[in-house]
Amino acid sequence: MLLRLSRRQLILAMPALAQLQQTPLQTIGPFYPADRPTDQDADLSVVKGKPGRAKGQLLYVTGRVMDHKGEPVRGARVEVWQCNAAGKYRHPGDTHDAPLDPNFEGFGVIATDKDGRYRFKTIKPGAYPVSKTAWRPPHIHFDVTGKQTRIITQLYFPNEPLNEKDGLFKETRRREALVAKIVGPEKNMEPEAKIAVWDIVLNRG
Ligand SMILES: [Fe+2]
Repeated sequence: MLLRLSRRQLILAMPALAQLQQTPLQTIGPFYPADRPTDQDADLSVVKGKPGRAKGQLLYVTGRVMDHKGEPVRGARVEVWQCNAAGKYRHPGDTHDAPLDPNFEGFGVIATDKDGRYRFKTIKPGAYPVSKTAWRPPHIHFDVTGKQTRIITQLYFPNEPLNEKDGLFKETRRREALVAKIVGPEKNMEPEAKIAVWDIVLNRG
């Protein structure tokens, strides 16, 4: 059956179809880095001057930062922070009884390229307790600053049983937009690595 839309209705409908919705916001949480590491870069899996690599599943996190029209946001500042594979943040306020990893940075920052692309190298964060009975699922905190829009949010992982038990995740509208897609490594990457692909939409870029 053909939809009988007037020319005016069609014109009104078209911009709405082309619009992307902004990535849902999430709390900054209690563990935003109290002091920044000296090597602020896009590789969280090593610490400058230390020979080892962080424990855990090696992970590249990549995607595009776009505005609501799908246009790339070039030069956006993307900051990430996360706990280590054991679920511990390098933060004085973290009382979780899990070990720090001396080879894990926990914080990274990068600017998007001409296609709006960002890429971090890290390890998959662990889950951590927030009360006697509740655990936060693995997630990576993001603070993304474009030319006109800044958002604070969190990336989640697919097929995590803790996701649907997490108060913060559950109460988020369009929460599926916060879940990365996990794929295998590219040729030039470590064979054991995974890639988390996650695009970010800043309303006005
Ligand atoms: Fe967190």
